[in-house]
Amino acid sequence: MKEGVVFAVNAQIHAELESAYLYLAMSAKMERKNLPGLARWLRLQWEEELAHAMKLYDFMIQRDAKIQLQALPEPEVHFETPLQAFESVLEHEQYISERIANLYELATREHDYPLQSLLQWFIDEQVEEEDNARSAIDALSLVGENGPGLFLFDREMGARQPESAEEAGN
Ligand SMILES: [Fe+2]
Repeated sequence: MKEGVVFAVNAQIHAELESAYLYLAMSAKMERKNLPGLARWLRLQWEEELAHAMKLYDFMIQRDAKIQLQALPEPEVHFETPLQAFESVLEHEQYISERIANLYELATREHDYPLQSLLQWFIDEQVEEEDNARSAIDALSLVGENGPGLFLFDREMGARQPESAEEAGN
């Protein structure tokens, strides 16, 4: 792999690990707000982001490229309400989508076809991630952020299954 591409994939591994760390911090905050369903949803999101990082990691190993891991900053968690939480999830996923698009452009410029192929999966995944965040925002806008509506929303979000179980079930 070309040096610039190796550097950029390492940076994306870092971004995925940073996403994981952010969602874990958000999950912990939901626990403290007594919203166990949203905490579980975000914790599964943490797992999913780790899987994204490892997909890129394994790809680098397979192609004999050097992995360079960097320090993770303390996650910045500012939300007070569930709606604010999912607005920041959407914002973060849009940032990740933009990163993936830039990485894809680089892979195209450098004629790195295997990386382009792998990134197709990430491009599709980002459509799903943004859609999930938007659906949560829409639902919260409908039910409001307190009382029975929030209780039911929390329970529904808590019914989320791990990705591996989803795949096995489908
Ligand atoms: Fe991701």
